[in-house]
Amino acid sequence: MLIPRNELQFDFDAARFRPAADRDFLGWVFDQFLYGEVTGIQCGHWLYRAPTLRAAAFLARQAAEELSHVKRVIRILEILEHPPGRAHGAVKFLSTGMMGGTWGEHVCMEMALGEGLVLTIFYALAATIENDEIRKIIESAILDEEKHVEFGERETRDWLQTFPGDRKTLLAGALVQWLAMGWLRNFALKRLPKNHSVLEKFPAFYDHTLAKFELRVQRLGLSDRPLREISWAARFGLIFALPFRQFAMRLRRPKRLLTATYLSDDWVVKSNSD
Ligand SMILES: [Fe+2]
Ligand SMILES: [Fe+2]
Repeated sequence: MLIPRNELQFDFDAARFRPAADRDFLGWVFDQFLYGEVTGIQCGHWLYRAPTLRAAAFLARQAAEELSHVKRVIRILEILEHPPGRAHGAVKFLSTGMMGGTWGEHVCMEMALGEGLVLTIFYALAATIENDEIRKIIESAILDEEKHVEFGERETRDWLQTFPGDRKTLLAGALVQWLAMGWLRNFALKRLPKNHSVLEKFPAFYDHTLAKFELRVQRLGLSDRPLREISWAARFGLIFALPFRQFAMRLRRPKRLLTATYLSDDWVVKSNSD
């Protein structure tokens, strides 16, 4: 991964969540994750549009993993004795409302950056929830999510090598996500329960998460500097041009399905050259 676990995880020190005392808050958190994991069905959409047989095989496995995460989150909610509930509108919008239109957008925005955010939160939950079964469940989901992020990072790098002109489109998409998360910061902080050892560290954790998001954007090669150092004029230019660039990108990038391209696919070509 472009950001290894020891760099991505935040140090909560001895602060802990206790399932019985923190049932309402943790239940709410896992309600959001339940929705997020159900959005794993989007793998089906991308499986149909996968650019290579190798990518299709990965997505087929990922779909099974995301569905198993759904079951695991349900199990966590059971342990918490919290009946599953609805997700917040902002979470729904971030998970399903910003679905990309091309493979490049999917692997960059949803897999490398989006699942990279999920991973940062999973690390935090695994480090702070005082319950062995819940921790074990989260740790096993972490192993899967790390693979999803790695795949997204590799595919993004390959995409940018093939289509270097898409760098600004992806950078602008990342900038919008990062700004939105910055705007949500105070809104989220105001609603947190007070006097809690973990939640007292939440503002620092939120800033850490945003900083790692910026770092991943840089390491993906989307920007040569942290997003915060991009001038307001340049930000405005990127965001203003985003819909036009997205439109052009979606129009021009390959749409042929594997049923049309499989004979020139690496799997087929390599097996023939053996
Ligand atoms: Fe997942
Ligand atoms: Fe995932």
